[in-house]
Amino acid sequence: MLVENRFDSRDALIEALREHCEERLAMGVDKTGRASFLVSGGSTPKPLYEALSSSDLPWNFIDVALVDERWVDEDHPASNTAFVHTNLLKNAAAHANFVAMKNSSATALDGLAECEDAYQGIGDHFDVCILGMGNDGHTASLFPHAEGLEAGLSGDMRCCAITAKRSEVTGDNVERMSLSVAGILEAKEIILLITGEEKWQTWEAAKSDGAVEDMPIRALLRQTQKPVSVYWAP
Ligand code: 6PG
Repeated sequence: MLVENRFDSRDALIEALREHCEERLAMGVDKTGRASFLVSGGSTPKPLYEALSSSDLPWNFIDVALVDERWVDEDHPASNTAFVHTNLLKNAAAHANFVAMKNSSATALDGLAECEDAYQGIGDHFDVCILGMGNDGHTASLFPHAEGLEAGLSGDMRCCAITAKRSEVTGDNVERMSLSVAGILEAKEIILLITGEEKWQTWEAAKSDGAVEDMPIRALLRQTQKPVSVYWAP
């Protein structure tokens, strides 16, 4: 269920992935009238979003939604909503419909039902889902041994509220909303975008034996429902 695509350069990776995303999103709109694009934050996908923002796609028929969000307002520097607006939802892609994870509830747990409603509204599947991975083996906001991780791994809702253990990766932003594993598996195309030798070593470690709770990305590589395509460059 794993396809590993290794590129010689980040430019080559981004170009290949841009084309692939364009093709899949256009196909989704052709087939059903709408398509959905689920996107992660982080530094790695930024050039992909920059490139896609100018793609000639029927953006007004495309829903863009987050894979995960820190429970902060949009004017906070850690907001993934702000990140996606700055890097993707501009140029041609400004016409896309953005579905937010963050709502006015005080905590992610309080806001979960409203967020789940919004994500159910996206449709009966997601077209393309871009995941990242941290060197701690988290993906989306499914952080090792986080509060809420069990529901994220085994629940049947698309979204889950997470309180991560504070680490170098999370910084102060421990309170999150995330796609669950069930939510990620609703994507027709699951793409894990990683770069650098250290991430490749993390990926190799994830493929070895060990608890899912230690490296939650393992939940995706051990499932047998959907293929996961890894895109890597040095
Ligand atoms: C977060 C980050 C995180 C990110 C990975 C990869 O919410 O803490 O967005 O989930 O996707 O840590 O980040 P990089 O692409 O910057 O390595």
